Amino acid sequence: MSCGDCHDQAKAFGINPHAQGKATKGQVVPNSVCEGCHGSGTAHMDAGGDKTLIYKPVGLAGANKTCLSCHDTNTDRISRHAGQHANSSQVNCLTCHSIHSSEPRAPHLLVKDQLSLCATCHASYAASFRNKPYAHRLGRGGMECSSCHEPHGMPFKPANLRQTAAGEVPCLNCHADKRGPFVFNHGSVAIGDCTTCHEVHGSSNPKMLNRATVMQLCIECHSPITASTLGSQPPSFHNLTSVRYQNCTSCHMAIHGSNRDPQLMK
Ligand code: HEC
Ligand code: HEC
Ligand code: HEC
Ligand code: HEC
Ligand code: HEC
Ligand code: HEC
Ligand code: HEC
Ligand code: HEC
Ligand code: HEC
Ligand code: HEC
Repeated sequence: MSCGDCHDQAKAFGINPHAQGKATKGQVVPNSVCEGCHGSGTAHMDAGGDKTLIYKPVGLAGANKTCLSCHDTNTDRISRHAGQHANSSQVNCLTCHSIHSSEPRAPHLLVKDQLSLCATCHASYAASFRNKPYAHRLGRGGMECSSCHEPHGMPFKPANLRQTAAGEVPCLNCHADKRGPFVFNHGSVAIGDCTTCHEVHGSSNPKMLNRATVMQLCIECHSPITASTLGSQPPSFHNLTSVRYQNCTSCHMAIHGSNRDPQLMK
């Protein structure tokens, strides 16, 4: 007897990654494929489909017992059992993935497209990308939350940020020109910690800066009033009432670091 004699799931399963080429589209998969998650179906079938004689993985218990038996990946970049999204009553494999009824247009058996999925629990972050005028464009086939975040989390890393191959912030995967070290770094700030100056989930300010104007951002550290306001940064000695000096990056163009000029002008 075949699971497919009684269950439509078996026909649809030809294209599921869990069928692993054991059937093609529209074909019925061998029972062994189903039994990888549901356990032996012999008693269930012999009893003509007694549903108490077959295991169905649901919720936290199902995610722990079934999914982790094959997918317990645990490296320094991803952990499915110790990361921020490790199985719990609030979030587990089966809140984000569905084996039989995933969103057909979303890859990786996700229950919905990724942006809507993350938004169900982190609404303000998703809304920020949508509502703020300056933001990365998510969910249009290119960038996703997972471009910067490892969705399964990883141990001991704040905000489960993904890293480049060299262990840097995820931003440098795409903005490689901002990768240091430069001959003249912008102090210690421009290396790595982009969030010192940029609002990464979207901003009301051009270039996603976290202050309304470039000048406001700069003088937060380079206060013209006193050199010691915020540590040892050199004050900007320019006359800030002069329009000439207000657009700081018109002269200090290499604001992320320079290989030619200590004053970051080229
Ligand atoms: C003879 C028909 C028949 C065959 C063959 C059969 N099933 Fe079922 N199965 C049923 C019926 C009937 C139900 C109960 C449906 C209901 O109550 O909605 C059921 C229910 C289930 C459930 C749900 C259990 C629950 O707790 O809700 C799973 C999972 C399942 N079957 C898996 C399998 C697998 C895997 C195979 C193949 C190894 C299989 N079935 C073969 C008839 C069959
Ligand atoms: C990778 C794991 C996995 C495999 C392989 C798998 N299932 Fe399931 N199945 C699940 C999970 C998880 C559920 C729980 C409900 C859900 O997510 O839809 C489920 C639920 C079911 C149900 C109950 C549906 C309901 O509405 O309650 C049936 C019937 C079923 N599976 C049949 C099959 C058959 C037939 C196969 C083989 C073609 C199969 N499953 C292969 C994980 C799997
Ligand atoms: C018997 C082992 C086994 C079990 C149990 C199992 N998987 Fe898989 N899973 C695989 C294999 C093999 C693949 C295909 C190769 C790969 O992508 O790693 C896969 C692929 C996947 C993928 C990737 C799909 C894609 O298109 O990239 C997801 C998501 C997934 N499984 C989720 C689950 C979830 C959720 C459960 C628990 C209900 C589960 N798996 C249970 C073996 C398993
Ligand atoms: C918070 C939502 C969420 C949870 C919880 C979650 N996943 Fe995922 N998973 C994703 C997303 C999003 C992707 C797509 C990743 C990408 O775009 O790089 C994915 C991809 C995958 C893949 C395929 C890609 C790969 O890395 O091989 C597998 C397999 C997988 N998940 C298994 C699991 C298992 C097993 C669990 C439970 C331990 C789980 N996931 C829990 C959201 C989640
Ligand atoms: C079902 C609810 C749920 C879904 C869906 C969900 N998360 Fe989470 N997320 C949580 C919970 C619970 C935590 C851990 C508790 C906390 O720190 O808020 C968490 C933690 C996080 C953290 C770490 C926060 C920190 O302080 O370190 C990030 C980043 C994150 N989620 C991003 C995502 C992304 C990206 C997605 C979509 C792929 C997603 N989440 C989908 C519930 C969810
Ligand atoms: C361009 C890269 C990027 C994208 C895309 C992105 N994030 Fe983040 N996210 C970050 C960085 C960097 C941090 C850590 C710094 C911070 O808190 O601002 C972070 C932090 C977080 C945190 C934890 C905040 C805390 O208090 O520690 C959550 C939750 C989160 N992001 C959710 C999301 C969700 C949901 C999405 C998709 C809607 C998303 N992020 C898209 C870069 C990104
Ligand atoms: C997956 C690739 C990718 C990643 C990862 C990424 N970005 Fe971007 N970024 C882009 C693209 C493409 C654009 C321009 C198109 C757009 O607006 O979406 C952009 C635009 C920007 C802009 C605005 C440029 C302008 O002219 O307005 C800033 C600032 C920025 N990114 C900073 C960051 C920071 C900081 C991070 C890490 C937290 C990051 N990006 C991660 C691809 C990426
Ligand atoms: C010291 C503050 C500061 C830090 C730290 C910083 N940026 Fe910027 N960034 C700026 C300013 C100011 C602008 C706008 C320049 C202008 O308007 O001429 C900008 C513009 C950008 C732009 C758009 C214009 C361009 O040059 O491509 C991108 C992309 C960008 N930053 C990415 C990053 C990334 C990635 C990081 C982390 C590696 C980072 N920034 C760290 C201040 C900073
Ligand atoms: C988070 C604090 C911070 C912000 C914001 C910041 N800087 Fe800096 N800046 C520094 C530090 C620290 C140094 C290095 C001081 C040193 O090496 O003595 C520096 C160095 C410089 C230098 C080189 C001075 C020298 O002689 O070494 C220039 C020019 C400069 N910053 C301009 C700017 C401009 C323009 C902005 C706004 C786009 C800005 N900075 C934003 C902290 C900051
Ligand atoms: C018209 C071009 C111009 C503009 C606009 C400008 N600067 Fe400068 N800045 C310079 C020059 C030239 C120097 C180097 C002076 C020297 O070494 O004699 C300098 C030096 C600096 C230094 C280093 C001071 C030191 O002690 O070494 C800082 C910090 C600085 N500027 C910050 C700013 C800030 C903040 C703004 C915006 C409010 C700004 N600059 C706007 C031309 C400009």
